[in-house]
Amino acid sequence: MTTPATPVHPDEHPEAAIARLAADSVALIERLQHAGGAYPASPTFSAYAGYSWFRDGAFIADGMSAAGAIDSASRFFDWCGRMLLQRRDTIAEIVAAEAAGTPLPDERMLATRFTFDGAEGDDDWWDFQTDGYGTWVWAVVAHAERHGLDLDRWATGIRLSTEYLLATWRRPCYDWWEEHSQHVHVSTLGCVVAGLEAAARSRVLEPPLAARALGGAAAARTLLLAEGVHDGHLAKWLGSTEVDASLAAVIAPLGVVDARSPLGLASIRAVEAALSVGGGVHRYLADTFYGGGQWPLLSCMLGLAHAAAGHRAHALELLRWAAGTVTAEGWLPEQVPDHLLAPERRQEWLDRWGTVATPLLWSHAMVVRLAVELGVLEPLSVLPARDPKAIL
Ligand code: BGC
Repeated sequence: MTTPATPVHPDEHPEAAIARLAADSVALIERLQHAGGAYPASPTFSAYAGYSWFRDGAFIADGMSAAGAIDSASRFFDWCGRMLLQRRDTIAEIVAAEAAGTPLPDERMLATRFTFDGAEGDDDWWDFQTDGYGTWVWAVVAHAERHGLDLDRWATGIRLSTEYLLATWRRPCYDWWEEHSQHVHVSTLGCVVAGLEAAARSRVLEPPLAARALGGAAAARTLLLAEGVHDGHLAKWLGSTEVDASLAAVIAPLGVVDARSPLGLASIRAVEAALSVGGGVHRYLADTFYGGGQWPLLSCMLGLAHAAAGHRAHALELLRWAAGTVTAEGWLPEQVPDHLLAPERRQEWLDRWGTVATPLLWSHAMVVRLAVELGVLEPLSVLPARDPKAIL
């Protein structure tokens, strides 16, 4: 990659600089989107190059949709639909085995990420994560509602995801961070609830499946509230006493827990108190990945939750922190090492995978999403994509 130009003028108003970063981020994501619709997680990072995740991609598409990049988001959802359609027989087997009381093992579940052209790829990964299959359904329904689009285009994918989630959501699986597969994770449940509720209201499901989707969402929500709450706040996994910054997303943008409810407010406070240091948000306290740094995309998730609770000024501070991680090249990283939870563990990851993933498209998209939410970026003011050479 060569150097893009996103010079920040020293006299520029901070919000104007953030608006420009957000607009450039939309252009960057458009430029890096694969012709088939997939969003690369990070174009050059050793362990991610060549793959697109449902989780990252769903949030990226949501950011693009909110910014008015309608076609880009739609094409990602087309890609999701194709990934599901190509695996409809696998889904049918998973659903049938579950119904027969003989569930298939984790290795037979759908993958977490796919190559751009739709293969599982040859590299081992921490597969079996259900969250992305809920998140993309939530995102595509939100996209259609936001822009008045016909959901028929994505109906098959929504149906297949609904069947898949109904058969698998109770199972322990890897979390957002591809760790701790022995647990049922509260943010994963939040994605499942958001996806099933969106599917149920999408009007593309036949009434019996829509009713089952609603029933599944209600059961998942009940479990989340019964076993996924500690001391009045959302917990990292069922039975845990800890928090994880991914819980902010359950409040916003997913909207599964009302930001202004006692549970929403206590969860925002708990994540903030445990994991935010000067606006930079850690994933969770025991994180050792690259030494456990601060993730701009999580500052934005927490910012969205604060915004939903009416705390606009604080949300803006979090956005400023996230935007401040931009490199001289105009790229947002996955994490920064300014405050490390486990500094002694950083080098082993540098040796294993190289420099932290930069640019990470999910980081760019979350800055876009929060900038739109706070009115820093006007969706209609998004600039047309620039010459690719000016960006990468
Ligand atoms: C993160 C995942 C993410 C993936 C691709 C991993 O390091 O833990 O949440 O989906 O990178 O960005």
